Amino acid sequence: MTSKTGLPESETINVLRNRRSIRKYAPTPVSDAHVDAILSGALRAPTSSNLHAYSVIVVRDPETKSQLAVPCGNQKHIVDCPVFIAFCADLTRIESAFERNGHNMENNNLELGLVASIDASLVGMAAYVSAESLGIHGVMIGAVRNKPEDIAGILGLPDRVYAVFGMCLGFPTETPKQKPRMPVTGIVHHERYNADAALGAIDPYDVDLKSHYDSIGKESHPNSWTHEVDAKFSPRPRDGLRAALKDRGFDFT
Ligand SMILES: Cc1cc2nc3c(=O)[nH]c(=O)nc-3n(C[C@H](O)[C@H](O)[C@H](O)COP(=O)(O)O)c2cc1C
Repeated sequence: MTSKTGLPESETINVLRNRRSIRKYAPTPVSDAHVDAILSGALRAPTSSNLHAYSVIVVRDPETKSQLAVPCGNQKHIVDCPVFIAFCADLTRIESAFERNGHNMENNNLELGLVASIDASLVGMAAYVSAESLGIHGVMIGAVRNKPEDIAGILGLPDRVYAVFGMCLGFPTETPKQKPRMPVTGIVHHERYNADAALGAIDPYDVDLKSHYDSIGKESHPNSWTHEVDAKFSPRPRDGLRAALKDRGFDFT
């Protein structure tokens, strides 16, 4: 298949090209069969060295979703969505494999934590795309890392497991305008990294994002993207995260 743009086309590419985060959901339930189908695709995601360093917690109970929303800054969509899925980095089975072979995980290092976090993210994204292919949309929730220990308590996560991100899923009742993306010329490099192109994408994106915000009536700074990024990330967000993850058995030092 070839699209209007002259590029090869597929259903999967179209699902991705049309996506946007959805935060408003119909009360229509997302059935167990839907969730099973979504996860049956997602769990075929590649996994580093076949480690399977992840676990997935499916949450439907309204009380649990309400509790989860609190450390996540009271995001309403967590309460409202029919199903919330937490994608967790999980080193417990790997620790067990070490122990069965006479070793322990006391000296675990950055690589293991990264591998588990990457693995969980790949499963999460695969679930997201699988869900969208069924008309079930949603939004990822990184705010579960605001207070990893609170989320662990609510979900009963043992040591060596932390929620990398969550995902609200449901049948959408909104179709927000797609948020523009950074110009592809700044993101995709051929053969060698082009620093001028990478940084050259910033000014046009500031303008593009500003006009997007204007078009949806959202107030924003004239240098929308650079201002937003600086305001959110220069004050060292989630500064206690490394210590919190260390407490959970992940050594990111
Ligand atoms: C790992 C991750 C965590 C996110 N966390 C949140 C969140 O906690 N709350 C929220 O409303 N959106 C969250 N988002 C959604 C982003 O804000 C959104 O993807 C981004 O602004 C681009 O918009 P779009 O998805 O509509 O294209 C998250 C996205 C990712 C990838």
